[in-house]
Amino acid sequence: MSKPRNTAAVMDRARALDRQQAHEIQAFGHTTRMPIALSQNVAKQSVENLNQVLADTCTLRDLYKKHHWQVAGATFYQLHLLFDKHYEEQNDLVDQLAERIQSLGGVSIAMAPDVAETTIIPRPPKGREEVPVQISRLLHGHEIVLKEARSMARQAAEAGDDGTNDLLISDIIRGNEKQVWFLSQHLVDVPLVKAD
Ligand SMILES: [Fe+2]
Repeated sequence: MSKPRNTAAVMDRARALDRQQAHEIQAFGHTTRMPIALSQNVAKQSVENLNQVLADTCTLRDLYKKHHWQVAGATFYQLHLLFDKHYEEQNDLVDQLAERIQSLGGVSIAMAPDVAETTIIPRPPKGREEVPVQISRLLHGHEIVLKEARSMARQAAEAGDDGTNDLLISDIIRGNEKQVWFLSQHLVDVPLVKAD
């Protein structure tokens, strides 16, 4: 014979245990040891560098979405699509950087206020700007990322962190350089219909 059940207790088991709180399991800036045959110092330095590139990549990604929405003029359609394509590619880089940081035992930057505090890409105005200004802002952002990524890639290579070096060179540097090419050609002043 089955035990009589307390209906209230049974119902309580179906309740979602929301609004829970506890201490963080790892503070930002602390690196835990991962069994990946890298010294703690090397991992910590790579995490610090990657978080800077991550904050700048998040900012560049969001700058692309801003311009995707706010672009105006005769080239609206092609730039609307191009900006969104680059946004998606930068978003993929954001994920790769954050997951590399976690793989090294670090804590990745994630939320907008933390990104804003960390990025060195200048904040754009909230309003809309002309296409040449939008593109100039994006090119400046790319150049900031490329400059830091190159020096961090060299540092990672010298320290023996080949995984970080590879991510910075194969994905961050090559990806950003290609996007710069696509963008910069829109600022070349060539005739549209009649040759000079
Ligand atoms: Fe869209």
